[in-house]
Amino acid sequence: MQMEKLVSLCKRRGFLFQSSEIYGGLQGFWDYGPLGVELKRNVKDAWWRDMVNAHDDLTAPAGAPAAYEMTGLDCAIIMHPQVWKCSGHYDLFHDYMVDCRESGKRYRHDQVRGRWVEAKDQRVFVTTMASADEEQNSLQAKALKFFNLRAKHAEQLKWDGDIVTLPEVDDASKVLGPDAKSLDTLTEPREFNLMFKTTIGALGGEDDTSFLRPETAQGIFVNFKNVLDSSRLKIPFGIAQTGKSFRNEITPRNFTFRSREFEQMEIEFFCHPDTSHEWYQYWRDRRMQWYTDMGLAGERLRLREHTPEELAHYSTGTADIEYAFPFLPEGEFGELEGIAHRGDFDLRSHMEGKLDEKSMPLEVQLGPDGKPKYRGSGKDLSYFDDDAWERDKERLGLRSFKEYVKKNKDADQPGAPYQYIPHVIEPSAGADRATLAFLCESYDEDQAPDEKGKMQTRTVMRFHPRLAPIKAAVFPLVKKEGMPDVAKQIYRDLKSQFNVFYDEKGAVGRRYRRQDEIGTPFCITVDGQTMEDQTVTIRDRDSLEQWRVKIDDIVEDLRPRLT
Ligand code: GAP
Repeated sequence: MQMEKLVSLCKRRGFLFQSSEIYGGLQGFWDYGPLGVELKRNVKDAWWRDMVNAHDDLTAPAGAPAAYEMTGLDCAIIMHPQVWKCSGHYDLFHDYMVDCRESGKRYRHDQVRGRWVEAKDQRVFVTTMASADEEQNSLQAKALKFFNLRAKHAEQLKWDGDIVTLPEVDDASKVLGPDAKSLDTLTEPREFNLMFKTTIGALGGEDDTSFLRPETAQGIFVNFKNVLDSSRLKIPFGIAQTGKSFRNEITPRNFTFRSREFEQMEIEFFCHPDTSHEWYQYWRDRRMQWYTDMGLAGERLRLREHTPEELAHYSTGTADIEYAFPFLPEGEFGELEGIAHRGDFDLRSHMEGKLDEKSMPLEVQLGPDGKPKYRGSGKDLSYFDDDAWERDKERLGLRSFKEYVKKNKDADQPGAPYQYIPHVIEPSAGADRATLAFLCESYDEDQAPDEKGKMQTRTVMRFHPRLAPIKAAVFPLVKKEGMPDVAKQIYRDLKSQFNVFYDEKGAVGRRYRRQDEIGTPFCITVDGQTMEDQTVTIRDRDSLEQWRVKIDDIVEDLRPRLT
């Protein structure tokens, strides 16, 4: 599938628009049009329903070590600045970027790609920011220009090695920047914090600086105690949240894949340290299954387990669910979701102060004065398993838990195994990336007969019916003989059940095409026979099969097909 075709369909049919387009657009920001908003909402609703609302708290799902509970949260986008200091985002959430002294442009160091080339006794590293399918053409055009060669003399360019990224090049003096005419115009890579700063209140001093959240996860950690104290949740349980996150990405690119404003769908799953690895495996497989169920099955979807070298030492596993987006070079995959075993790193950092992720065992990171670099909340974020305590206290011959802790005061964790900091498994997905993957996967072109029976190429979006923006379209075959009135009544009756669309304009074949192109799974047509026997035809988008159903049975017929 060519990406340009999808991008053009998205604009033409109202899935996605560039933000502030009438003012020339704003890089890294996107607006969802009338169909896009339905599609993305369906993605988020399917996630919320499958992970939270439809989850059965009483039964262990296949592959899960036990039954567990799920609940949700909706936290503020702006939080106390200390949250980001203790989470590590303040210090660590950065990318390396390079500036071009000649063009004034800024690039992410690891996204500048290029290739060594030699001509006229000079060897240079030519670079480009072009998309994967345009890369080599763009490099060739740049190299010809640099060496002052005509296209017909392209054979004088001696290419050396594959296309690689800038960090793999050690001699900066030989680099021709993506928009430069001379060599050696790129600065050394510099760190750049990805958090958007904002000011709270009218005075605007340094103390009033805060940040737009770069992830929804921290809102869950800082509310862990609130949720525990206000509900009867017992470990293991998960807290889900969907919402906007913001990252000042240096080079937003590839449609919505890397945006500066995007939506996440995150779960923090709290469990006992002894079973956390099993829970990690459960969530990794469960989340992979979800994408498969929603239609991403096939070679373009894969689960990539991180190698031990890639893992933080406090984590027993991290996996990425990846999709081979068509804009990536052949064989490359882009991350859809990360599932991470995070140990007790986050809760302890918010409790004791930011932990030093390199320390083993984990210790609070200290500043030059020997005090915690970033102070934690000081609040007790441990979990007390009162069921286990009630069960064991008589056997232990103790009257109170205080007594137990006193008895074990020299142990590492005097309250264990009854009181402990839970371990966390974090399945963290992007709603926009998932939506983009569903758009890419759904795009198809096939041959279908038009109204004269002639085979024509049709564009069809094969969305899973749960994700399709419009579930069914209702057409009168012709605009006479009372058919529009019957079709309108069917439309009105269905509207309260599903998102349906009424269309009477143009030839019926063209109306089918319009619905195929936006992925409507079913078209309902009122024709001459309807007026006699109160039946309609229902047409399936993918198989093109048609069947007749009584008007009164349409809902019953469609409902199971839409789940
Ligand atoms: N709390 C963990 C976390 O935020 P992440 O890998 O940085 O982890 C999780 O982000 C998911 O959020 C990614 O897998 C991706 O789907 C989405 N995401 C991250 N940055 C994004 C961006 N700039 N544009 C669109 N989606 C993004």
